[in-house]
Amino acid sequence: MDVKTVLSMVGGTGDTSYVNNSETQKLAISNSKHVVEDSIQDLYCTSYPESLNIADLGCSSGPNTLLVIRGIIDAIHERCCQLCRPMPEFRVFLNDLPGNDFNTIFRSLAGFYDTLKEEKGLPLGTCFISGVPGSFYRRLFPRNCLDFVHSSYSLHWLSQIPQGLEDEMGESLNKANIYMAESSPPPVFKAYLEQFQKDFSLFLKLRSEEMTSKGRMVLTLIGRRTEEPSSGESRFGWDLLAQELNKMVSKGVIQKAKLDSFDLPYYSPSAKELKDVIAAEGSFSLEQLQITKITVNTNDKKAKGQLVSKCIRAVTESMLVNHFGEEIIDDLFEKFAKNVEDHPSKEKLNQVNFTFSMTKKV
Ligand SMILES: C[S@@+](CC[C@H](N)C(=O)[O-])C[C@H]1O[C@@H](n2cnc3c(N)ncnc32)[C@H](O)[C@@H]1O
Repeated sequence: MDVKTVLSMVGGTGDTSYVNNSETQKLAISNSKHVVEDSIQDLYCTSYPESLNIADLGCSSGPNTLLVIRGIIDAIHERCCQLCRPMPEFRVFLNDLPGNDFNTIFRSLAGFYDTLKEEKGLPLGTCFISGVPGSFYRRLFPRNCLDFVHSSYSLHWLSQIPQGLEDEMGESLNKANIYMAESSPPPVFKAYLEQFQKDFSLFLKLRSEEMTSKGRMVLTLIGRRTEEPSSGESRFGWDLLAQELNKMVSKGVIQKAKLDSFDLPYYSPSAKELKDVIAAEGSFSLEQLQITKITVNTNDKKAKGQLVSKCIRAVTESMLVNHFGEEIIDDLFEKFAKNVEDHPSKEKLNQVNFTFSMTKKV
């Protein structure tokens, strides 16, 4: 699978769209809000620049995209009011892969600018938003141009499916699994970790080239609380999705070889793994690391099943359709919802998030 051309959240505004199924990601944004505010206000107060260049990487489309930008503008506005300073101009670059539904974002911009004017008295021309399609695993911006980089719920997506998930004969080592699982052999864990280290290190290097000296970056991603790579918490949804795909194999709906050759380009690192890459790459100092937990909070089993199923569908549908075809999708996610509903550890639908703020070293 060529991740950069296949991966995209379900576009549009329909029932299965990312726009309507991104509550978990919204919670993550709200949990990291104060880290973003502290970081951007610190940055502003070091030199009171007349303009700020800001990038949101892996912005997707929907309410979350502009929520982050609004939070950043509000934080600077608050500081400017306190200090009786004029507002700087904002150049905001929204980045995602080319398959992202940028049109939905662009259609909402006029309303966004109107709201800034109505609610904050900020005239048109305070903020200039543009889209930047492309993978954040390559250079996206000229050198020394970004003051602040933000990314939420995107960096656990790898640039590619890890190499090393097959033996010398080309046989899958991760048969019947779609991610690291309890039954995965050690080379699978190694391959996933190495791909993450390579990707994250490259990401930091590229951003350090694009950012101004002392530029700030705040990143949020799904993490693992323990060092144990197979810890259940970080892969609960993937295990249940794999179970449903295996049932489809038993029923002859999909071929076994097809499932054996499917692996997700995803990795949720531990805090130590993250810190180790930041230290080894060397371009950024880690200022703050916040660990939060998101729990699906409803006692209604059916609603919980639906919520988790729709959320995972909005994120994975493009990859599943690319590999297995469109025909299986509705049935797969109906059964998946039922599986979540009936699962004995349904109370433990927790997701651990890491938010870390960094400053570019001079
Ligand atoms: C779950 S969405 C998160 C979107 C948004 N930040 C939010 O919090 O709602 C992850 C986004 O990261 C994007 N993404 C994944 N890999 C990427 C890459 N290499 N370059 C740019 N965007 C990427 C996906 O296309 C997707 O839109």
